[in-house]
Amino acid sequence: MKELTILKPDDWHLHLREGIVLKNIIRFTSELFGRAIVMPNTKNPITSIKKCISYKKSISEALPENSTFDPLMTIYLTDETKKDELTEGFNKNVFFAAKLYPANATTNSSFGVKKIENLYEVFEVMQELEMPLLIHGEVNDPEVDIFDREEVFIDKELSPLIKKFPKLKIVLEHITTAHAVDFVQDNNLGATITPHHLHINRNAMFFGGLNSDFYCLPVPKREKNRIALRKAATSGKECFFLGTDSAPHLRQWKAFCGCAGIFNSPVAIESYVKVFEEENALDQFEKFASLNGPKFYHLPINKEKIKLVSMSNQIPEFIDVIEGKKVLGQIKPFHGGETLSWRVEGIVK
Ligand code: NCD
Ligand code: ZN
Repeated sequence: MKELTILKPDDWHLHLREGIVLKNIIRFTSELFGRAIVMPNTKNPITSIKKCISYKKSISEALPENSTFDPLMTIYLTDETKKDELTEGFNKNVFFAAKLYPANATTNSSFGVKKIENLYEVFEVMQELEMPLLIHGEVNDPEVDIFDREEVFIDKELSPLIKKFPKLKIVLEHITTAHAVDFVQDNNLGATITPHHLHINRNAMFFGGLNSDFYCLPVPKREKNRIALRKAATSGKECFFLGTDSAPHLRQWKAFCGCAGIFNSPVAIESYVKVFEEENALDQFEKFASLNGPKFYHLPINKEKIKLVSMSNQIPEFIDVIEGKKVLGQIKPFHGGETLSWRVEGIVK
């Protein structure tokens, strides 16, 4: 039986949701990850210090007792974000970073930024503060083909932005294209890569009929892009790090409105390891999962370790969302119904 022990990983891009869903899903991350950057696109988005403190409190209350998990909070940028609020929140350690969603580019982003230029004053301040800017890199122009929206964003929005703010610390989130891989490396940005974009290409969304289980944003692209992402993630290069973008939606909502988002936190580590094994790069996994992120964000690496063993691991088709004894709904995890060949055995002190 093969074994792999690595420093405890962090998840640099995570959706924890709220209420009952938060309470049901948080353990999948908090048990195995040291920290996670928590996305602010809750139904009522996290646009202020007050909302952020209250959201963080509900996250802490949902954590299992004695958990050492550290949620790193973000502010949701809008055209109205005030630089004073942002500065105060950053200086008081309420906000770890700011998230830029182009308006309507993805789930719960209708309050997002309509015109990037409206935020230039804010970016000026962030550059000075060295506050990270996390970007959902897709244009929101309905005229642009959905499969081209990341590349167009990079060329039309991101490229001018980094010219204007060359010292701004930027992470291009959940990259999906070879173009993004190259751009990130050439311009000293950071990038998160999800497990699902390493496993599926755009065919998955149409396999056996329209399949919303694999619908997420940015949408998976052509195979050549998936190959480029796998090469980037397993390269060990410091600019690429783990960010699951785990984004749970109840099954009934997925079926009803086909919401974008894949819930992968229950299998994230096993899912990534499968890719690293297939690419003969198991020795690079610790860099991607546990070292590159802290280095980019100037944070200490985690002290504990996790141990994985290669053994058959049957992933449940659905995960129940429970309140008291009542099952309120189910969420399909990524790889649900499949058998994976690695399993996380647990934490090694
Ligand atoms: C995310 C969600 O559901 O909140 N969905 C997704 O497809 N990734 C939002 C996001 O990160 O784009
Ligand atoms: Zn996300």
